[in-house]
Amino acid sequence: YKAALNFFKQPSSRTLTSFFRAEGILGMDRFNVQDITTSSQFKGESDADSLRTASSYADVVVARHPSVDFDLFGVYVATMCGRDFRYVNAGSGPGEHPTQGLLDAYTISESFTGELDGRSIAFVGDCLRGRTVHSLAKILSLYECTEIYFVAPEELQIDQETEDYVTERGVTIHKITDGLRDIAPLVDVVYMTRIQNEHGGGGEYDPRFIFDQDTLDSMKEEAIEMHPLPKREEISPDLDYSKDPRLMHWREMRNGMWTRVAIMSYLFGVDDRIRQEYDRLENVIR
Ligand code: NCD
Repeated sequence: YKAALNFFKQPSSRTLTSFFRAEGILGMDRFNVQDITTSSQFKGESDADSLRTASSYADVVVARHPSVDFDLFGVYVATMCGRDFRYVNAGSGPGEHPTQGLLDAYTISESFTGELDGRSIAFVGDCLRGRTVHSLAKILSLYECTEIYFVAPEELQIDQETEDYVTERGVTIHKITDGLRDIAPLVDVVYMTRIQNEHGGGGEYDPRFIFDQDTLDSMKEEAIEMHPLPKREEISPDLDYSKDPRLMHWREMRNGMWTRVAIMSYLFGVDDRIRQEYDRLENVIR
């Protein structure tokens, strides 16, 4: 009987609720610390002590934090606290968002009959501070023949660390600074992102980077659009209720809950048991 603490020091809608639901589906006890004005952090407690406290009540902490180094910090504290305690990064500043990367990779794989090798993807918008971009680019770099277009104005182009990571693993990259129009027809995936202006900068949205009906019309028949959400002006509101099956952002979001069920069951070593039970039930139904 496992318990999870969801410790969120930055705003979240989807990540927090989908983790909370995923933990519930697996029968875990779970609690959220979201508003730090109601926690001892308000009295000046450090993040390290808060995590250590969590390790006394819970078996895993799912943490979102404004610091880019919080993933390493979390793993460090979880290892040093001397208990059987796991740490999941649910977003570390402008750095990484690995569970979103996994659900995005799953969404792509599902759309291309399980095939992640040989995919071409355009990341559009804020490649510099979009943590979902960094994590998904790194995951895709583990597959063969990945081609990545970073489509962003100069000041929001991909950071050096992610660029080095993916190119060292054989990814072909292109940096495009003059908009999405010429790239959308070429790729398998157009991955839109929000300008992360909570980190400062990024005023008016440049219309050359907006995804609209013309962008959709220009895409390949089998290509897909994605967005980690929340979205703003980067996807034209005219597409809100479009039934075009290539628009994938709502399905992508729904995949998040089940991906997090899979992550939690893997972390606690019950994934094989679930798979066996699933096979058994399928046989019973047949
Ligand atoms: C993203 C995030 O928090 O990094 N949201 C999410 O978790 N689905 C993307 C964003 O905030 O723009």
